[in-house]
Amino acid sequence: MFYYGACYYPEHWTAAQVEKDIALMQKARFNVVRMGEFAWTKFEPEQGRYRFEWLDSAIKALHEAGISTVLCTPTCIPPQWVYAKHADVLQEKADGTVQHPGSRCHCCKNAPAYQMLSEGIVREMAKHYAKMEGVIGWQVDNEFGCHGTTRCFCDHCKKAFREWVRERYGSTDAVNEAWGTSFWGFDFHQWYEIPLPRTMPAGPNPGHWLDFLRFSSDSQVGFQKIQYDLLKDLCPGHFVTHNCMGCFPDIDYYRLSDYMDFPVWDNYPNQAGDPLYESYAHEITRSFKGHYWVMEERSGTTGDASAGLMGEQPEPGEIRRWAWQSSANGADGIVYFRWRACLTGAEQYWHGILDHDSKPRRRYREVRQTGKEFARLAAALEGTQVVPKVALIRSFDTLWSLERQPGAVGFSYDRHCFEMYRAVKRQGLSCDMVSMDARLDGYVTVLAPSLSLVDETVAASLAAFVRQGGTLVLTPQSGARTMSNAMWDLPRPGLLAEMVGATVEEVRPYHQGQTNEISFARGSLIAQVCAVGTWVELLECDTAEALAEYRDEAFKGKAAITRNEFGEGVVYYLGVYLSGHILESFLRDALPRPFVEGISEGLEITERTGENGRLVFVVNNTAERKSVTLPGEFEELLTGETVGPNLKVSGNGVVVVRA
Ligand code: GAL
Repeated sequence: MFYYGACYYPEHWTAAQVEKDIALMQKARFNVVRMGEFAWTKFEPEQGRYRFEWLDSAIKALHEAGISTVLCTPTCIPPQWVYAKHADVLQEKADGTVQHPGSRCHCCKNAPAYQMLSEGIVREMAKHYAKMEGVIGWQVDNEFGCHGTTRCFCDHCKKAFREWVRERYGSTDAVNEAWGTSFWGFDFHQWYEIPLPRTMPAGPNPGHWLDFLRFSSDSQVGFQKIQYDLLKDLCPGHFVTHNCMGCFPDIDYYRLSDYMDFPVWDNYPNQAGDPLYESYAHEITRSFKGHYWVMEERSGTTGDASAGLMGEQPEPGEIRRWAWQSSANGADGIVYFRWRACLTGAEQYWHGILDHDSKPRRRYREVRQTGKEFARLAAALEGTQVVPKVALIRSFDTLWSLERQPGAVGFSYDRHCFEMYRAVKRQGLSCDMVSMDARLDGYVTVLAPSLSLVDETVAASLAAFVRQGGTLVLTPQSGARTMSNAMWDLPRPGLLAEMVGATVEEVRPYHQGQTNEISFARGSLIAQVCAVGTWVELLECDTAEALAEYRDEAFKGKAAITRNEFGEGVVYYLGVYLSGHILESFLRDALPRPFVEGISEGLEITERTGENGRLVFVVNNTAERKSVTLPGEFEELLTGETVGPNLKVSGNGVVVVRA
């Protein structure tokens, strides 16, 4: 079933207003709302005294109108009585500053009182709503880690971190060994000596730092698990999820999604300046479990609660296009944020479908039109899924390591992963974004951009994938570090060297603007020359062949890019960071063939397949008309017309064909 609706806050409005809202929602073909994530104070105004009737009436009225409810556990903002009794639930920053109540996300996930009170409200809500008609699922809390709150430095975290380290290593000697504490005299002999990496004069020990980031992420995962287990136990008929934040770097979402039936994410497009960045986040979220929803889909002007500024209005057609872009990348539900702009509170400028005055205007009409379209395509979408042949390994361990130590000025691991992803998308292919320990069989090509942290298990999994006929693409900085964030005492790319068939003779980080030139000696880019910067590696071939070499006299004979046949498969190693068109052209040789070739910039093509067949989506992510050549004539599902082979797609237009 395809879900379509909005985030709704009946606690802000009168019963008469709720009634009018429901009528408008029905016209827009809504079948779901999400409610309750900030309403702990309404549910439990005094400790142990629970009030649910204010929400029950809304759930009932919505249900009677055919609209289901996703409830949220409201643990993101405890009521005022909590702080009066338990001042120690507040988070502390690295410099000791305490995060005070008044906004949200200020409580520490390791504070025992916060954990206990959170469990209490979740249990009561679960018991109350387990059998209530209309309730179909739960979102745990809201956007863990939002506003930079994943990492807390309070005394509870200090204690919990020590326990976490003890569990991982068993002895302080093992900790010293893993972190390499002999450097700068950082040895530990007692567990109570282990500190949090707080504000300090120079950079932290990389092993200590990485483990603190893992611990901070695990603290969120643990909080999710407690609620997930409770909800699944008390409400076995309901799904449980959490709203992730796309490319958000601080929480290992692969681990978090172990405690979700499917993930959801909050999509606020147009903030990165590239519509494929939204697709990147869609595909990241989908890849955790194969299915996902967008739980907050932008539907109005954004509004910066801290700066007090109003953002841009969505242009006509954009809200519809964002929704279809979501569905095209696999979303099975779209819930707009929010139904109506708030009259009070820090987000007065953050608009929803309706403005403050509730008058349905252009944005509402667009949401209603889109709702009718989704209703028309619901049967065709049923049971379909995006099933890519390409995967990209996006590792949180490597992200955290390289975020702290990027190696070269201007290098960003996430940016690099996105550029690699973008080059795949530009060929008209979708891409799963997988963890290092994911199963790789079933993929034709795996990209592992700058996969710095590699151990024997990861190396063996990559080797097995290639041996069985897969194509693997590696880029600079691969295999340089152990899982403890130490450097390997091996020639780069360390444990990957055998399958690469080449080693790195010299690493040269470049200052910003500094470049070198490489020329392609083989492959489809033969004789092309391009500039490379940021970081280059001079490669020495063993069994590999050089595809590109440096033009610089000083580096004569050193390869920049290699190709090695290994088992039944092939490994490409890029010792340079390629981007844009060159990267796209280069990757073409390493990728499977798409349904449509040569798609122009701004168009996005995806496929959803299932027992009901194969749907191909063509989404125009620009305001200008674009053309594309389809491989034949097809039935277009939104209009019922026959289209192709030559297809024109209007600005912000969407075409869905049955292939
Ligand atoms: C999200 C959050 C919502 C709302 C929205 C707009 O990050 O989950 O509660 O704040 O952004 O700012």
